[in-house]
Amino acid sequence: MVKINKIHFNNFRNFTNYEILFEKKINILFGENGCGKTNILEGISLNSKGRGLRNSSISNLIKKKEHNFLIKNNLEINNNFFDIEILTENKNDKLKKIIRVNNDSSKDSIDILNQYISFLIFVPEMERLFQASPSYRRNFIDRLIFSSKNNYNSLINKYKKFLLERIKILQKNIIDNDWLNQIEKDISLLGLEIYQLRHSQINFINNNLKILKKDHNFQFNLTLQIKDEFFNADLSFEEYLSYLFNSRSHDKQFGGAKIGPHKSDILAIINNDFDASLLSTGQQKTIVLMILLAQCNYLVNYKKINPILLLDEIGSHLDSYNREILLDMINRFEIQFFLTGTDKNLFSFVSTNAQFYNITDL
Ligand SMILES: Nc1ncnc2c1ncn2[C@@H]1O[C@H](COP(=O)(O)OP(=O)(O)OP(=O)(O)O)[C@@H](O)[C@H]1O
Ligand SMILES: [Mg+2]
Repeated sequence: MVKINKIHFNNFRNFTNYEILFEKKINILFGENGCGKTNILEGISLNSKGRGLRNSSISNLIKKKEHNFLIKNNLEINNNFFDIEILTENKNDKLKKIIRVNNDSSKDSIDILNQYISFLIFVPEMERLFQASPSYRRNFIDRLIFSSKNNYNSLINKYKKFLLERIKILQKNIIDNDWLNQIEKDISLLGLEIYQLRHSQINFINNNLKILKKDHNFQFNLTLQIKDEFFNADLSFEEYLSYLFNSRSHDKQFGGAKIGPHKSDILAIINNDFDASLLSTGQQKTIVLMILLAQCNYLVNYKKINPILLLDEIGSHLDSYNREILLDMINRFEIQFFLTGTDKNLFSFVSTNAQFYNITDL
């Protein structure tokens, strides 16, 4: 099991000095609006690569009028204990997030941490996942890929960088053809890899939902699909490259690239009949919880990864179906949960092995 036993915030968001001990598997953080519940989940999420649950700029993470933050965690991984420090460093007027594992910030020790630590996240905006823009849905699927493949972000970043580079070359008066051909090869390789990873991720979800259906009476029959004019499961590198070549004049004129995984959408088909955008927000929450349950099953049983679940404002909008999925997730897996809500009573249905924390802004 991967478990956070203790966390201490110093000059992080609204906290000057705030420490919490987490002894149980299920941790319920409740309190008034603005007391810092989401900030705590965000602080926990910073243990993995990137800028955390809100994808916020680093400067916004630091308490107003302060210069740096420090988060100290005590992390337990399969009965081994690690002291993890997350802090900011100001270098050449640029803020950087640094992680230290037992006082060591070498790549090797961070790699070990990344290998074990994985978060699955619910934020309230996800109740509109299927009414939001395609980029929001792509990010949602990308986060799920990232939960078992922690170098996935750098793949996406490289892909975006090469797309920009290609446009710069195309818009020059004199074009360096060798350079352009090379960039298009790189884009095709990376684009194909992203397509394939998303395609596999969606298959994992669909397959795990089928497995779970055997002992779970889901309200909906759910199938995820990639919607993309260009992608099919047999798409080859050569085809990709020639499409890019043929869209040069279009891309030069309009910028970006006409084709590629940055254009995909993710559809959720309900009962083989209609799109999830037609569902109510509470029902969309059901779909997101079903996907998280399936992803948990995939990670725990097939990848041997024990994710930590960060479920923000999960307490509201929970009808009996949503409660059932959440309880199934809690009962089925030996993993740590952090749930937030404004009122303790919203969680009265979670009776076993839960600890309640009344968060107060000190
Ligand atoms: N950099 C910062 N410095 C100081 N305070 C901050 C900073 N960033 C955010 N805050 C404050 O932190 C407070 C708590 O925010 P948070 O989003 O964690 O609240 P919450 O408990 O999740 O509330 P809600 O129930 O409304 O979701 C807010 O009042 C916000 O203004
Ligand atoms: Mg909040």
